Amino acid sequence: MNIKQISRFLPVLMMFSLLPGCFSPEENREQRSLNIIPKPGEMVKKEGSFTINRKTTIVFSENESLLKEANYLTDLLNEYSGLKLKLITDNPKDKNTIGLIVNSNIVNPEGYVLKVTENGITIEGGSPSGVFYGIQTLRQLLPHQTGKAKAKLQVQSIEIKDEPRFAYRGLHLDVGRHFFPVEFIKEYIDLIALHKMNTFHWHLTEDQGWRIEIKKYPELTKVGAFRKETLKGHWGKKPREYDGERYGGFYTQEEIKEVVNYALERNVTIIPEIEMPGHSLAALASYPHLGCTGGPYEVATHWGVFNDVYCAGKDSVFIFLEDVLDEVIALFPGKYIHIGGDESPKHNWKECPECQARIKAEGLKDEHELQSYFIKRIEAYLLSKDRYIIGWDEILEGGLAPEATVMSWRGEAGGIEAAKQNHNVIMTPNKYVYLDYYQAEPENEPLAIGGFLTLETIYNYEPLPDTLNSEEQKYILGAQANVWTEYISTTDYAEYMTFPRATALAEVLWSPKKDRDFNDFTKRLKSFVYHLDRLDVNYAKHVFIENKEEL
Ligand code: ACM
Ligand code: ZN
Repeated sequence: MNIKQISRFLPVLMMFSLLPGCFSPEENREQRSLNIIPKPGEMVKKEGSFTINRKTTIVFSENESLLKEANYLTDLLNEYSGLKLKLITDNPKDKNTIGLIVNSNIVNPEGYVLKVTENGITIEGGSPSGVFYGIQTLRQLLPHQTGKAKAKLQVQSIEIKDEPRFAYRGLHLDVGRHFFPVEFIKEYIDLIALHKMNTFHWHLTEDQGWRIEIKKYPELTKVGAFRKETLKGHWGKKPREYDGERYGGFYTQEEIKEVVNYALERNVTIIPEIEMPGHSLAALASYPHLGCTGGPYEVATHWGVFNDVYCAGKDSVFIFLEDVLDEVIALFPGKYIHIGGDESPKHNWKECPECQARIKAEGLKDEHELQSYFIKRIEAYLLSKDRYIIGWDEILEGGLAPEATVMSWRGEAGGIEAAKQNHNVIMTPNKYVYLDYYQAEPENEPLAIGGFLTLETIYNYEPLPDTLNSEEQKYILGAQANVWTEYISTTDYAEYMTFPRATALAEVLWSPKKDRDFNDFTKRLKSFVYHLDRLDVNYAKHVFIENKEEL
């Protein structure tokens, strides 16, 4: 935020500072149990409570499949209370224990049953992931430490039976337009886990910056990770002005391994995105032979869609991309690789003899079919490595690759069409889940790309289109909120745009549809933000300010 924006924002900040010191009012343990986000499926409050003390042990069943969750819980309790509990493998139902158990009777692998009695706590999960989500719920039952003295870790007796509504619950971050350091990426993953989301879509390559070290192609990070300057102000404002400052950064493979492990410990799968054929100017600037014209090219310094894309006629482009993907596959264990596919102008392909020769040789109708050829060829390569592609909805044009999952962003139409073609779909319609859009009246907000998406609108988003029948709806794996960062250059602003709107989507994706109630959500949110405060998240507070009489 620049000075002008801060001054515009000042009245809101001042109003906020007059409110009570925090947004997590003192609440008793019974109330707290009713404040969980995302709202659990079934919850029965019981008489009494259990207090976690120094002698409580964390017990997990014989085999070590739950070691990761047990360690996570130990660290979490230590962080929240200072207690360092002992970890043992023994009978998880003993007295004064927190027992972690995988129970194959729980059908949904991410489902769990959490029981708190006066004797102790058990968390049974359909798999270690389910146990992990039970731990996240327990986290929200812990007392809020509001003063200097630590509160006793007294937990309401309760029985909670819970499972997610959707299998895919994602949050995205564009690190191409602006670069975010590893420490922030880890915090983002912590937040994804807190929200019982399970996927981080890491948008790693862009026109304005290539952010992942590829050992075989060092120019990608020597040249492609840096731009000579950056546009100031909004793209639509003319004349354009630039800041004159070199900008960039990238993640080394060692850093990526560290992040992947960190995510694994938090039940988060990372989907790396390597954009093709468009949004590839940083790669072309690094290796000009990859474009139709041969360049020279420059890493982009402003936002938009650029005509220079990978040439679809040259085999050397596919060799390059396969080499890059080899290194990406070795770093990311998840089954999906996102290959982009959006906003790729056909202008150069129409003029390029090699692209035209490819169209002829392959018997393709036009440049849309050439894009489809491009994506299908990459898909075939990835399938040979046992990986599946996800692409933005433009990959429908010219024909879908056989196993592709479609990320529907230009509204829901692409997702609906893909589901009708029996393809898996992840919903990310810009109107409902683009977190780079303004969340309140633009005149009181820091500069954003445009659009308008309030907390209430995202909360009321329904991922299953009613134009699909129930068979077709099964192809909708879930949804994801996207954080594009043309205008988001700081971690503080990224947090402000992401939360609590992502919190609203987390509930959409996890909780039963019948329980969705925005007023109830905002009440629970006042308690939930305690956890955001603990992580020092600069979440947006409009919803509390509008309802300040209730504080
Ligand atoms: C996109 O927003 N271009 C996927
Ligand atoms: Zn070409």
